[in-house]
Amino acid sequence: MASRKITAIDIYCGSGAVTEGLKAEGISVLAAIDNDPIACETFRLNHPEVHLFESDIRILKPTKLRKLIGYGRPLDLLVVCAPCQPFSSQNRKRSTEDPRADLVLESLKFVKEFAPEVVFFENVPGIAISGPLHSLRQKLAKLGYLLGDPRTLNAADCGVPQRRERCIMIAARDQESIDTFYGSIRTQPPVTVRQTIGELKQLCSGEHDPDDQLHFARKHHPIVLQRMNHIPQDGGSRLSLPPELELECHKGRKNDFPDVYGRMKWDDVAPTLTTGCTDVTKGRFAHPRDNRAITLREAALLQSFPPNYRFFGNSGQIARQIGNAVPVNMIRTLAPSLKHCLQAPRNPEKSTVSGL
Ligand SMILES: C[S@@+](CC[C@H](N)C(=O)[O-])C[C@H]1O[C@@H](n2cnc3c(N)ncnc32)[C@H](O)[C@@H]1O
Repeated sequence: MASRKITAIDIYCGSGAVTEGLKAEGISVLAAIDNDPIACETFRLNHPEVHLFESDIRILKPTKLRKLIGYGRPLDLLVVCAPCQPFSSQNRKRSTEDPRADLVLESLKFVKEFAPEVVFFENVPGIAISGPLHSLRQKLAKLGYLLGDPRTLNAADCGVPQRRERCIMIAARDQESIDTFYGSIRTQPPVTVRQTIGELKQLCSGEHDPDDQLHFARKHHPIVLQRMNHIPQDGGSRLSLPPELELECHKGRKNDFPDVYGRMKWDDVAPTLTTGCTDVTKGRFAHPRDNRAITLREAALLQSFPPNYRFFGNSGQIARQIGNAVPVNMIRTLAPSLKHCLQAPRNPEKSTVSGL
């Protein structure tokens, strides 16, 4: 193990944030899978050396992947960041009705084919109380794996300038590996909005930074600008709007959607970035100082993408990729624990899953 690089496959890779984090920590990503053509284009721009399968995972045969990767190469790590919408508190249908809930179970055919040492799952905390989790645990046991209990981790504790609660879990063949992983996670010091975007060029609504294609401020409607003028800098909210500028749907409803039109705070982390992260009507996505929503560059940095990461697509498509990403620094923070657990000496006699 010490003499070769740890190998990984990234399924549901999106625009490649997980792959970016793994590569930055010296892990070799052999292959990746996603069915979104726009996100795949971004992935290729940044990770041209990784075999990317642009395909619906449900129809992709793991043997096809194996042929490309080569029969002789062992797989250490399978990463599974399945779509989180079915388990999200924002989704009224939730996992019982949403057909995407079963996508997490599609990972099992890759576990069977590649027999990775460790499987890492990332999703929203709602997955912990879902039906598919129970099925996942049972089916993994049949393949010889134990699934560790779900843990909630905040990206803000992983050097990401953003509050983003995620659920992480690993599966391995023995409890020691699972305990080593959870026991070795080290949180990182907080990083603020100011430290992350404070030095970027100041922009008014509709302005561009000529040196950075992603740093352009969306052109706001005059009424939106009038509202933003009234929202105090550095954390202000729509509660400061005079009655004549309040939205009809907000009148008398101070507690509903309190973040809409809100500004981020300089010396705090950002709120959870969503696919609407450059739209002030979708959450607390206004700049702490400038009268505008944050730019795509600011959003990408707040998700801890490196400044040279390239994105394919139009503004809406890029915002969607950024909002859907797993923060790069979250993966970088967890990578040493994944390595620890992969490098821990194993006692073959203890490597059993009851009921097999
Ligand atoms: C939470 S995002 C993954 C984020 C990604 N791991 C990253 O680091 O940015 C879930 C991904 O699952 C992909 N997806 C959804 N349904 C799929 C399917 N049937 N087959 C393959 N990929 C799918 C989406 O296109 C999306 O990119």
